Parts: sequence; C-alpha cells; structure tokens
Amino acid sequence: MTLASAAHNLVRQPEVVTASSITHVRPQDIPVRAFATQGQPTAVLGVGVCLPDRVLTNAELEQMVETTDGWIVERTGIRERRMAPPGTASWELGAAAGREALAAAGVEPEEVDLVMVASSSPDAPFPSMACRVQESLGLANAWAFDLLAACTGLLYEVAVADAMIASGRCRTALVIGAEVLSRILDWSDRSTCVLLGDAAGALVVGTPQRGGGIRSWCLGADGRLWNLLTYGQRADKGAYAVGDTEARFRMNGRETYLFAVDNFARQAEAVLAAAGLGVGDVDLFVPHQANRRIIEAAARRVGFSMDQVMVNIERFGNTSTATIPLALRDAADQGRLQPGDRVLLASFGAGLTWAACLLEWE
Ligand SMILES: CC(C)(COP(=O)(O)OP(=O)(O)OC[C@H]1O[C@@H](n2cnc3c(N)ncnc32)[C@H](O)[C@@H]1OP(=O)(O)O)[C@@H](O)C(=O)NCCC(=O)NCCS
Repeated sequence: MTLASAAHNLVRQPEVVTASSITHVRPQDIPVRAFATQGQPTAVLGVGVCLPDRVLTNAELEQMVETTDGWIVERTGIRERRMAPPGTASWELGAAAGREALAAAGVEPEEVDLVMVASSSPDAPFPSMACRVQESLGLANAWAFDLLAACTGLLYEVAVADAMIASGRCRTALVIGAEVLSRILDWSDRSTCVLLGDAAGALVVGTPQRGGGIRSWCLGADGRLWNLLTYGQRADKGAYAVGDTEARFRMNGRETYLFAVDNFARQAEAVLAAAGLGVGDVDLFVPHQANRRIIEAAARRVGFSMDQVMVNIERFGNTSTATIPLALRDAADQGRLQPGDRVLLASFGAGLTWAACLLEWE
C-alpha cells in the first residue's frame, strides 16, 4: 500500500461516531466532590469582556434554518448572539478582554505572572493562544499556556490560578475564555446553531486586599460521557486522526440537558456544604449560560429564588468559556455584586467536565 492510498483509507472511515451515540450513566453514579480552600486567599480582582459588534437575531436564524423565534426563546431563553467577523482569531478577542480586565483590576502588564487561555474554538495546536495574548498585552513576566476543558475551561483556569497563588508560586494571574464558535458550528443543524455565540471574557485573579476570596471548590470530570458533546464525524478518534477537515460541533442535547440540571444542583450543594454555608447565604448564583431552562430547573432544585440567580443568556447565547465573565460583568453593571457578597460560580461542558466555586466578592 502506498502512502497516498493509506492516507486515502484513513480519511474514508465509514463508521460515524458522534454525539448521537447515547451513553447511559446514571446521575447518581457520577461522583461530585468539593473541598474548602487552604493557604493564601485568592480573589477575582477585575473582569473584562470583548463582544463583537455584529448581532445575529433569532429572526435572522429563521431565514437560515427551519426554526422560529418563539421556539428558540421558549426552549433556550436566547434572543440574540454576537458573531465575530470572518477571519477573527479567538486569541484576538481574548487579548481585548484581557486588556480590559487588567485595567479594571488596576494591574500593570508586568505584574502578571501567569496567563492562561481556555477555548472550545482554539486557533491552532500551537503556538498557544496564551502566548499570542502574552505578546499582545506585553505580559513580559508571565508564563503562558492554553487549557482545554470546553465550557468548564474558565473555571478550571481559576482553579489553577487559585492553587498557584495559594502555594506562593504566583501572585497575579490573567485567565481568559475566548471563542469564535461561529466557525465550528454546522449552520444547517438547527438543534445546535441557534445556541452559541462569539465573545471573550477575562478575570484577573490575585491576592485580596479587602477580605474577599475563594472559599471552596468542586472540580470534576467523567470521561464516560465523552460522546455527548463532540467535534466532527469520528469523535472517538478526534478530527485530526481521521483527517476530518469539515469537523463541526455535535451535541446530544437531551442527555446533556438532563446531566446539566443534575450536575449544577449537586455542585451547588457540594460547594456550599464545603464552605459551611446554606442556600440562603448566597447573594448571587452565576451559572454557565447554556440554556435558561437548565438554569431555572437547577435553581428550583437547590432552592434558589430567581432573584439570587444571574441570567443574561438572552443577549449572548452560550459563549462557552466566556459566559461567566460576561455574566459577572453584567451583574456588576446592574449593581448586583458588592464587596463581601457571596457568589457561587458553576459550569459544565464537554468531556464531560464541571467546576464550581464559592467566593466572597472583593
Ligand atoms: C438543545 C435543546 C435546546 C433542545 O431542546 P429540547 O426541549 O430538549 O428539544 P428536543 O431536542 O427534545 O427536540 C424537540 C423537537 O424540537 C426540534 N428542534 C430542535 N431544534 C430546533 C430549533 N432550533 N427550532 C425548532 N425546532 C427545533 C427537534 O428536532 C425536535 O423535533 P421532533 O420532536 O420532531 O423530533 C436542549 O436539549 C438543550 O439545551 N440541551 C443542552 C444544551 C447544552 O447545554 N449544550 C451546551 C453544553 S456546554
């Protein structure tokens, strides 16, 4: 067999293994564990966002796929989302959000010891987006790497930053979630293309001056559920291995929905218990914005009233790693984040992965 025919066989794999293959794992069999933080406290010192100007409305999607504004609003809560211009790199949005976060925190570029970029729509295997951001923002003293944990990536980054700061290896970290998801969507698949949007968000994580800080964490993953949210036709191998140059986002929406409601509720209960707090002690629950109905169902199950919950999915859709900074920014703009407020952040994503933390706002 010649190299050319071997390569040909490789790209013509007949079997399709995508998000349509259902994994039966009972929610109660998925371990959700939490712990209280120790050592040097760390806090969120600044928030930045970057939103492309172009707004894509549900009415426009009605012209593209067989859907209606009514269906999208009722089933997801989404009214519009942003689209980056063609050719935009995720790191470019990330750098803009990072610049804004540093300004909000009053942190100079040379004070940053570590920069991480998480993304579900990364630009390339290398160089990392974090290195492009490091150069772009002049973070001369920062080490830099990308983190892949899908929508959970931003909170995983905060967990890494927290551990680095707590152990004295780092004083200030810039963590970024950056997405140009529009380029990995199947624009003929109505069950996914209506859900997502482009954006970036960033947080500066460092040492608190006013007594705020992260009190507890819940961090987890369950690889048995890898096939609920996937990329490409042969997700068991990955798009590169089978030469799938047309790979697109695929999802088993129903199973993901059921997982998400249960996971949000169990994470919230676990981080609260680890911090020695109850539902009534939380000033604001800021969940990953994947679907308004998921958020409402989880809030009901835990016992939060909706005025304890931040929802802004109607304007941006699901922006994967960027949703939590976007929600924190809107909450701050609405006066819903005051120093000392107890804030519960929670996310889940492909992998499957999940993370939640309870913090006191600085
Ligand atoms: C995707 C999601 C909104 C679908 O909502 P749902 O209420 O579960 O709807 P279903 O998937 O059961 O589909 C119901 C019907 O609506 C149809 N439908 C799907 N998308 C549609 C759309 N955009 N417009 C109109 N109809 C649509 C389906 O084809 C189906 O039709 P059928 O009954 O004739 O087969 C929901 O499952 C969801 O949000 N899942 C989790 C997504 C998520 O969190 N993803 C990101 C993780 S980070």
